[in-house]
Formats: sequence, structure tokens, C-alpha cells
Amino acid sequence: MARSEKKQLHIGLLGFGSMGRTHTWAVQNLPFFYGELPFSAHTVGVCTTSLEKSRRVAAEFGIPRATANEDDLINDPSIHIIDICTPNICHFETLKKAISAGKHVLCEKPLCISPDEAKAIMKLPKQDGQVLGMVFNNRWMAPVLRARQLVDEGRLGRILSFRAAYLHSSATDKTRCAGWKQDRTVCGGGVLFDLGSHVIDLMNHLCGRIVAVSGMSQIAYPTRMGRNGEMWQTNADESFSLLAVTEGGAQGTVTVGKLQVGTNDDLSFEIYGEDGAIRFSLMEPDWLYYYDNKGDDAPLGGMRGFTRIECVGRYPGLVFPSPKAPAGWLYGHLASMHGFLSAVAEERDFSPSFADGAYVQAVMDAAYRSSENGCVLTEVKPCW
Ligand SMILES: NC(=O)c1ccc[n+]([C@@H]2O[C@H](COP(=O)([O-])OP(=O)(O)OC[C@H]3O[C@@H](n4cnc5c(N)ncnc54)[C@H](O)[C@@H]3O)[C@@H](O)[C@H]2O)c1
Repeated sequence: MARSEKKQLHIGLLGFGSMGRTHTWAVQNLPFFYGELPFSAHTVGVCTTSLEKSRRVAAEFGIPRATANEDDLINDPSIHIIDICTPNICHFETLKKAISAGKHVLCEKPLCISPDEAKAIMKLPKQDGQVLGMVFNNRWMAPVLRARQLVDEGRLGRILSFRAAYLHSSATDKTRCAGWKQDRTVCGGGVLFDLGSHVIDLMNHLCGRIVAVSGMSQIAYPTRMGRNGEMWQTNADESFSLLAVTEGGAQGTVTVGKLQVGTNDDLSFEIYGEDGAIRFSLMEPDWLYYYDNKGDDAPLGGMRGFTRIECVGRYPGLVFPSPKAPAGWLYGHLASMHGFLSAVAEERDFSPSFADGAYVQAVMDAAYRSSENGCVLTEVKPCW
């Protein structure tokens, strides 16, 4: 396809912290990794809270326009997509404006900070063909895509139980200052919002929607240095444990935290069905482990046992590097961006959708209500 025939997609990027940088990398590098793309995507404007920073970022990454006012990008008719990479507290107001302006929107997790906000977003009138997508990038790791295939093929049978975790160690550093992710008024919650939103989405996606939870939150360090250099009263969970029940009756646990010494970016899950089981760890991003419970049993175990499936770089459509080359965390973001931009170019819906994001919001809300109410099993109320 000649370059001029390709659909041109112009992106206005809001926020340039770790995720703004990641999304910019993904957009700029898609042509290296994928074959003939049906679109040509460019980040044409960037907005941060400081015009000076926006200008610096724009100059460094070849972005033509810099601003400190998101309305400049949202109201620009030449921009097709608004990409939200700002702190959680900002998402709601931006979403209302961007959706009303008819933009396609890609929103970093979590969708917003409360079920009321999620409900209001879901009820906003949308234009035909407007694509609204969530960044739940872990869904796009090759082993997780393969896991969903195995579930869809019925290879696990009825799912009975699961165990999932997302563990970091950063909060164990007592000298570390609280950032916005440790401030519930900006993040909306604590680690449950930050890391839990990823895992809850994955379990909804792979095991069936979570319909009831019992939650327990933990703050190990009640005070630490705040952003203004004064001591700060911790108001956001540093670790959170959930018991969860899915619509199909499976029961499982989800533990998320930043209090786990020795961990790096340790997202992992195990899902057990009647006919098979799967295991995945983000720290081993090339492999999915699958156990076929229908395999022949024999003395000494025969050939029965977990199979290590070589997902590696075997993404559909990826032409570079070789599929045998190891993949990593960035591949999830790259594939997520590819999926979203392809949906926009091909004028079709995208999954994970805002409905998926709103449902995660409802699960997190039920978890907090449970934890404030003696861990009682609490029904998830879909928020629209
Ligand atoms: N999917 C993932 O892997 C992943 C990882 C980390 C964070 N996130 C999510 O991405 C979002 C951003 O997180 P981050 O870690 O990049 O944060 P960050 O603190 O690193 O960066 C935030 C950026 O937003 C800018 N900003 C703040 N308020 C703004 C406003 N009103 N308008 C425009 N810009 C504004 C800041 O200047 C900064 O550039 C959050 O929603 C977070 O939950 C997702």
C-alpha cells in the first residue's frame, strides 16, 4: 500500500511521564515491527502541565506541537485521537471533553477514579464509529493472548479456581517520598488502583467476570516524606488482598502490593480448570505453561506435566525481529497500540473497551467497600 493511500492518524498526547514516553515509543516504532500497516500514525501534539516541558519533549521526539492546555489538542479538528497518559484524577474531565468532541480515545488504566465517574462516562452520547479503548497492556503479552485462545478453545474446561498477583517492592524503601500514586485523592485508590486494575482486568478477561469480592487493605508505613518535603500521612493502600468469585462460580485470590521485597514487576497468575491449567509470569514473558488434564496418565507420570509453550515473539503480524527473539514488557504496549490504531483505521470496535474499564472500576469499588466493612463478601455492582 502506498504511503499516500494509508489512513493518516493524528494523535494528541496528554501527559509525558512514564506512559507518555512508552506510548510515543510504540507509535514511532510500529513500522519497524509490523509489516504493511493500514495506517500511518503520528503524535502531532503533546500536552503536559508545563509548557517548557512540553516544548522540550516535542523537540526531543519530533512532535510538531507543544502546549500546556489540553483543550488546544482536544479542539483541534486535525487531531483524530486523544491519548490519555495523565494521572488518574485527570481522566474524567478529559474523557468528557474528548468524547464530546468526537475524538477516538485511548485511555490508560484505570478509566477514572470512581464508579460515579465511570457511570457518567458510559452514559455520554457517542458518535457512530468513535473508538474508545483502554490500555490494559498485559492482555497483549503473547502468552496472555495464547492463554485466552486456550480458554476459548475449551482446553481448561470449567474454570474452578485462580491465583493472581502483581507485586512490587518500592514501598519497602522507608525513605522514598510519596508520589501521586500513593495519594488516594489523585490516584483514586492505592496499589489496588495502580497494579490491581491490571490483574482484575486479566482475571475478568480469562476467568469470567468477578461478581463478588472480599478485600483487605494494608498500610505498613503510615507516614513518609510527601511531595512538598513535609511528612505525609499515608492514605492509600500499599498492599491489597482479595478473595474473588466469578460469574461462573470460580473462586480465587488476587494479591497486589508494593511491600514485597525481592520482587521487580512480578505479575503472575495460575488458572485451574476441570480439564487443564495455565500459569504465567511477566518476569518470564516468553512462556505460557499449560497442563492438559486429559493427557494419558502412566506409571512414573508418563509424559504428563506442564508444557512450556514458546510464545516468545510469535505475535500475529509481527515481521521484526524474528519470532524466535525474546519479547518483553514493551511488546505488550506495542501490541496494544497496534490493536487500537488498527481498530481506528478499520473503523471497528476495540477491546479492552471502556465497558471493560468501567467494570474493573466496579470491582475495585466493591473491594474497598468490603475492606472498610470487615472484609465481608461484597457484590460487584456494574456501574451503568
Ligand atoms: N499500563 C501501564 O503499564 C501503566 C504503567 C504506569 C502508569 N499507567 C497509567 O498511566 C497514567 C500516567 O501514569 P504515569 O506513570 O505515566 O505518570 P507520571 O507521573 O510518570 O506522568 C504523568 C504526566 O502527566 C502530566 N500531567 C499531569 N497533569 C496533567 C494535566 N492536567 N494535563 C496534562 N498533563 C498532565 C505530568 O506533567 C506528567 O508528564 C496513569 O493513569 C497510570 O495509572 C499505566
